[in-house]
Amino acid sequence: MTTSPAPVAPPAPVAPVVELRGATKSYPGGVHALRGVDLTVREGEMLAVVGPSGSGKSTMLQIMGTLDKPTSGTVRVAGYDVGELTDAQLSALRARHIGFVFQHFHLAAGRDAVDNVADGLLYAGVPLRERRARAREALTKVRLDHRFSHTPNELSGGEKQRVAIARALVGDPRLLLADEPTGALDTASGEVVMELLHELHAGGTTVCVITHDNEIADALPRRVRFRDGEIVSDTCAGRVECL
Ligand SMILES: Nc1ncnc2c1ncn2[C@@H]1O[C@H](COP(=O)(O)OP(=O)(O)OP(=O)(O)O)[C@@H](O)[C@H]1O
Ligand SMILES: [Mg+2]
Repeated sequence: MTTSPAPVAPPAPVAPVVELRGATKSYPGGVHALRGVDLTVREGEMLAVVGPSGSGKSTMLQIMGTLDKPTSGTVRVAGYDVGELTDAQLSALRARHIGFVFQHFHLAAGRDAVDNVADGLLYAGVPLRERRARAREALTKVRLDHRFSHTPNELSGGEKQRVAIARALVGDPRLLLADEPTGALDTASGEVVMELLHELHAGGTTVCVITHDNEIADALPRRVRFRDGEIVSDTCAGRVECL
């Protein structure tokens, strides 16, 4: 007698972290930075956003991160329709779910590494003492425990970007958005930064990286290609399927 194999349950669907539907962004003077973008980024993905200068990559990242609003279309982050939230609710959403890393670091001059990172918890309602303790932990994660009291002008470019990554990860975000994080760095420092982003991804963080560097893009599981405010290709490999 043959027994039929036990039914295999289909894999549970992975929740989207960010969903853009028909997102457009226009500026006065007829600039159409985004011309109707549909993008779903699911929990645990790591993707590169690539495309020519002016094609709308940073605009999309700002909208994904709720730092900017689309002219039309909808944006959902962690299940919330961003268009329905007040500014205070948006700040809370960002503080709880999103970390940012920028090409030029955006660190506060004159504040040491610990306080720059501790500022990442400013809107999360964490008392100063705990903010600083968690900042020291985050700086240790990015291997800067020997630079706690250095101000930005006492740090190398690669170290500044590691401080910025520590600031982004100190709130334990689900989503890390990085706009050209290696753009201002030499190759070796850029590699260290990418290693850290890969480590965060391996730890479960969803990571979206804008890059001009094809080598970096090719090393990521998913690549979203932009041209003239539109996604022209979206290719995937690995465990999470893109739509
Ligand atoms: N505040 C603004 N007002 C008017 N036009 C803008 C504004 N911000 C961006 N743009 C325009 O929107 C388009 C997309 O800009 P965006 O910064 O998203 O490009 P990008 O793909 O990030 O380019 P790069 O690779 O050079 O950073 C560009 O043509 C830009 O000039
Ligand atoms: Mg840009």
